[in-house]
Amino acid sequence: MKTTGGSDEAKRNAGESAAEAVEDGMVVGLGTGSTTAHAIRALGRMVDSGLDVRGVPTSFQSRQLAQQEGIPLTDLDTVSRIDVAIDGADQFAGGDLIKGGGAAHAREKIVDGAADRFLVVVDPSKAAERLHHPVPVEVLPAARTTVADDVRRLGGNPTLRDAERKDGPVVTDNGNLVLDCEFGEIDSPGDLAADFSAIPGVVEHGLFVGMADEIHAGNDDGVDVRR
Ligand code: 5RP
Repeated sequence: MKTTGGSDEAKRNAGESAAEAVEDGMVVGLGTGSTTAHAIRALGRMVDSGLDVRGVPTSFQSRQLAQQEGIPLTDLDTVSRIDVAIDGADQFAGGDLIKGGGAAHAREKIVDGAADRFLVVVDPSKAAERLHHPVPVEVLPAARTTVADDVRRLGGNPTLRDAERKDGPVVTDNGNLVLDCEFGEIDSPGDLAADFSAIPGVVEHGLFVGMADEIHAGNDDGVDVRR
């Protein structure tokens, strides 16, 4: 699994801390990425010890890991609500996030947004005063050029993810492409989120504004939980 940023120990402390919030009978949103993977593995151990939970995966990757770990799975057509979602982030500033490093942000936003409590698991390398990480934008393949033009009009610099790769650009689990859009420091994440959402052909963008209920920021010695 792709690992970015801080140490694996910090990621483990964050993931395991969030997993502790899961109680018997809960439906749990299972995010994507190397930090959430620690939470999924911890949940797998809890299931082995008798915990009764059902997971709603946000990607092929998290589905596979959850299956390996023996976590019973369900989906949003079957359950009407999610008790807790656990998911990573590429950057956070207060309760605002940039996600989509794993190109899974469209399903992540659906699942994280449907949860009563959304717990974000990060290491210290993800913290920022103001968001400035490039924003991943999932686009319909037919709209990649027109969306890129619109992003430039908004003042951003879009790059097709892995355009130069021998086997072609990154394709999401939904069959779409990803534009990583560099804006420098983002003054108003809410306004930029609304601008992205208004562009025809945008499936979903990676700005998660005001969605986080708790940030579990792991470090090498423990975890700092911010509510
Ligand atoms: C996937 C994501 C991930 O949660 C984000 O990229 C963080 O990943 P990691 O925990 O591996 O640093 O948004 O779409």
